[in-house]
Amino acid sequence: MPRLKIAVIPGDGIGKEVIPVGIKALEAAGRQFGIDFDWVHFDWSCETYHRTGRMMPEDGIEQLSGFDAIYLGAVGYPGVPDHISLWGLLLPIRRAFDQYVNLRPVRLFEGVPCPLASKQPGDIDFLVVRENVEGEYSSIGGIQYEGTEHEVVVQQSIFTRRGTDRIIDYAFKMAQSRTAKHLTSATKSNGIYHSMPFWDKRVQEMGKAYPDVRVDQYHIDILTAHFVRMPEHFDVVVGSNLFGDILSDLGPACTGTIAIAPSANINPEKQFPSMFEPVHGSAPDIAGQGIANPLGTIWAGAMMMQHLGYPDVHDVLLRAIENVLRTAQTLTRDMGGNAGTEALGNAVIAEIG
Ligand code: NAD
Ligand code: IPM
Ligand code: MN
Repeated sequence: MPRLKIAVIPGDGIGKEVIPVGIKALEAAGRQFGIDFDWVHFDWSCETYHRTGRMMPEDGIEQLSGFDAIYLGAVGYPGVPDHISLWGLLLPIRRAFDQYVNLRPVRLFEGVPCPLASKQPGDIDFLVVRENVEGEYSSIGGIQYEGTEHEVVVQQSIFTRRGTDRIIDYAFKMAQSRTAKHLTSATKSNGIYHSMPFWDKRVQEMGKAYPDVRVDQYHIDILTAHFVRMPEHFDVVVGSNLFGDILSDLGPACTGTIAIAPSANINPEKQFPSMFEPVHGSAPDIAGQGIANPLGTIWAGAMMMQHLGYPDVHDVLLRAIENVLRTAQTLTRDMGGNAGTEALGNAVIAEIG
């Protein structure tokens, strides 16, 4: 009987509320296929920071390295500056384990009220492929003349040929495997002088190996407008770390709620553990109330099972989410209902059977 060893980092805020629901759903789906889990919990969070001065122990990465995967809730909470908490836990994990692909599917489900007029389930069903370890997310730079009126802040972006090519190539492969075979690339090559024209050129170059994939290249500003005006146009959308981040909140918002969206931080070569989490954050405004939507976390768990070689478990979980939403009877507030985290989680688990 397969036994999967999963590192669990609930983290902060609603991360602690949605992860237990995700674990229960994975247990229920795994049971049907004779899969067992060893869950090992790590309490790394902003509370840990207040206690120890660190988000995770010095050997934190080493502690995670032997696991099959990492299941994470959310990181960041008022009281610790966000750049300190995130650069102390989430971002180092993505980097240390070379999780250079961040896969974020976007789908409009039947039963979830859509904020866009006249869009139906089926109209919105695309994949954001986000570069996850370089780009605009960088700690390189500095401040001079700090605190004076001459203060100057320099923040570097890093785009390597290897890092750019491998994410674009992954996105082309993804597009080629889908029916529409359509790739959209997000840049801002009219305003950003070096990195963005470079990215555009690499898309053109890499595309030569995928003649059957149709390619669009948009500037990020108009692309956000197109997401809202014609989401049905998109199939696979690839972007840099920052643009991918923005598009993967905007896309799910167009489907009614960001809280349903999953995020798979993948090391495709499987040299290192990959990490699965919801797209959303710790939601301090609703933390502790038991009303957080757990579906993004459950869907992320499904993606974890797909990555670990159990597509059937993925499908069972996704079908359960679909079926629960279709009845529109147990929706959390972000989807227009009044159910709590536990009730929605239980509905999904009952549906799994
Ligand atoms: P957020 O995603 O935490 O919240 C944005 C809004 O969406 C809030 O109104 C919140 O209540 C709502 N929301 C989010 N998840 C929800 C859910 N599951 N159910 C119902 N409503 C939900 O974004 P933010 O407010 O920008 O960030 C809060 C903290 O989380 C910050 O410290 C930020 O850095 C961190 N953050 C972490 C991650 C991560 O760990 N991957 C992602 C995003 C933000
Ligand atoms: C996400 C989050 C993180 C990111 C933040 C918290 C650093 O917004 O996972 O989307 O930008 O990657
Ligand atoms: Mn984000």
